[in-house]
Amino acid sequence: MWKIHNIMFVRKLIFANKKVVWRGLCTKMSVKEGLFTPVGESIEKTSSRVTVVGTGAVGMATVVSLLMQGITHDVVLMDVMEDKLKGELMDLQHGALFLKNPKIVASKDYKDSAGSKICIVTAGARQQEGESRLALVQRNTDIFKHIIPPLVQYSPDTILMIVSNPCDILTYVAWKLSGLPQHKVFGSGTNLDTSRFRFLISERLGCSSNSVHGWIIGEHGDTSVPVWSGVNVAGVRLKDVQPKVGTDDDPEEWKKLHSQVVNSAYEIIKLKGYTNWAIGLSAASLTNTILKNLHHVHAVSVMVKGLRGVTEEVYLSLPAMLGETGVVSIVNQNLNPEEDGALQRSARTLAECQADLKL
Ligand SMILES: NC(=O)c1ccc[n+]([C@@H]2O[C@H](COP(=O)([O-])OP(=O)(O)OC[C@H]3O[C@@H](n4cnc5c(N)ncnc54)[C@H](O)[C@@H]3O)[C@@H](O)[C@H]2O)c1
Repeated sequence: MWKIHNIMFVRKLIFANKKVVWRGLCTKMSVKEGLFTPVGESIEKTSSRVTVVGTGAVGMATVVSLLMQGITHDVVLMDVMEDKLKGELMDLQHGALFLKNPKIVASKDYKDSAGSKICIVTAGARQQEGESRLALVQRNTDIFKHIIPPLVQYSPDTILMIVSNPCDILTYVAWKLSGLPQHKVFGSGTNLDTSRFRFLISERLGCSSNSVHGWIIGEHGDTSVPVWSGVNVAGVRLKDVQPKVGTDDDPEEWKKLHSQVVNSAYEIIKLKGYTNWAIGLSAASLTNTILKNLHHVHAVSVMVKGLRGVTEEVYLSLPAMLGETGVVSIVNQNLNPEEDGALQRSARTLAECQADLKL
């Protein structure tokens, strides 16, 4: 009895399979149609599209950080170099098995970036060995004229994150060219400098970067401001342990860490030609906060006119809360007069540089 049942079942299966083959032959059915019997609706994933403009070292480090951490699975790569775009696309697609079914598009046409929640701009000339970030400014401003308007045309509700250098001035340029409200345009700013700072402090103290709280604010560049007055571990300020921390007559020379932060990009560029991994991780972390509406506080470049005694219309980094609408609020840090003064000097330097820009 058991045997007869089995034989009948196998016969049924063979018959069913033959029917599929027969149906395929008769109706020119596609392999996909023959393979699957639809039982429900298949819809596109809810969009958390992120466009990354510039597929250089920084752009690709950002994309890989986004995909590997599962921050988004919907990425558009934009560049002017067709071969580079195609090569990067294929290389990423071949890793699909190890990612989460990403949807990756690579294009020169801004139409393909339509509907982006965030557009991250990493395009532009990079610093040459020994070249300051400010020297790059007009070169990259001219490049931005071809990038920002079409991005906003196809994604009018997008949030713009500027990574290209000089980051603060180009964030200002992007804001002007985009016509977007201030809170929707920000620069990656000193989020990276802050990470470098916390790493260097953590190395000296022998604890993890996550347990060190300290901020670098102001310019992402040579005039950045380390907020020594607030550096703490578990709420214990280093200044309360040793009041000379961060000053010129500190026997332990903690101040040197800030010079290391400022010089680290120059040093890495000298060693490997460019910096990319840490900035890619930094940009991905900012994207995560926005897409998931996490309201985390990051040091990013925001419009600071009217804040901390700054009178110029410039973008500089301050600790800012980010959410899905962009910059939600700015933390009013307890800065000492020297720190506020340094911030105001940075603002003046940037304003002078911006005054000469041909927008
Ligand atoms: N903010 C930061 O913390 C930080 C850190 C590192 C680098 N950067 C800056 O990021 C930028 C990129 O650095 P990189 O090392 O990736 O440079 P890269 O030369 O490797 O890549 C730049 C890419 O931009 C593309 N590009 C140029 N013009 C374009 C245009 N009009 N439209 C679209 N794409 C265009 C180029 O084809 C190239 O692929 C530089 O300005 C660099 O200084 C910023």
